[in-house]
Amino acid sequence: MSVIAQVSDVHIDTGADDGGRSVARTRAVMDYLNDLPYDLDAVIVTGDIADHATPSEYEAARGLLTSRHPLLTCPGNHDERAAFREHLLGEAPSTAPVNHSRTTDRFVLALCDTSVPGEDHGRLADETLAWLSALLADTPPTRPVLIAFHHPPVPLHTPYVDGIRQFDEDRLADLTARHPNITAFLAGHAHTPAATTFAGRPLLVAPGVVSTLRLPWEPQSSPSHHVHNDLPPAVAFHVMDTSGRLTTHFRPVPVPATER
Ligand SMILES: [Fe+2]
Ligand SMILES: [Fe+2]
Repeated sequence: MSVIAQVSDVHIDTGADDGGRSVARTRAVMDYLNDLPYDLDAVIVTGDIADHATPSEYEAARGLLTSRHPLLTCPGNHDERAAFREHLLGEAPSTAPVNHSRTTDRFVLALCDTSVPGEDHGRLADETLAWLSALLADTPPTRPVLIAFHHPPVPLHTPYVDGIRQFDEDRLADLTARHPNITAFLAGHAHTPAATTFAGRPLLVAPGVVSTLRLPWEPQSSPSHHVHNDLPPAVAFHVMDTSGRLTTHFRPVPVPATER
């Protein structure tokens, strides 16, 4: 079997207001993954890596998001492509979409940039769709493909997040219809674990590391505080068996009491 861990929405914030909270939570999650007595096939970090996209946030994230497992990242709406490339990835700054893939003989993993510069909602740029289409064309039709990105392409019955979801999703649905080996979509952004479907395939939404969204039928503390800060960070484990069937587990990760 193949096991892929998904970490999302770490929102690294090096400012005084955060009090080291985002760093402590991210460190707890990465320590947990790095200490597993099992070699993961990949760790993916699906966006909102820096809270304000500053160089210091990305440099802190770069130190934290190190792994003994293969690690891939994509940006979210809080990220900024040029700073992401320069200070997180150590590449020349560029505003081109940040797309990454990992190909193994058991699966292909595509991390697509759904960020729209200056906006909170998501959309796959034409060049990202072309990149994904070429990757799919190069993949044997029997090999399972997992497509990950930050913004879910469907509403999740979470009004705030639904207003800034991934739009123009019909283009991705059309591409998906041509590739039956697309096994599932993996998203973040919602800060709450969820399972639904998109284009006839499973869509798994990872929990947030930094906070957990208050669902509309839960008590609302105030309109400006639409998250739980007291629930632990969590990760998703996507497990693919030899037949290509996917199972997802959502796992909370404890944070040392002095660092929450
Ligand atoms: Fe987020
Ligand atoms: Fe987001």
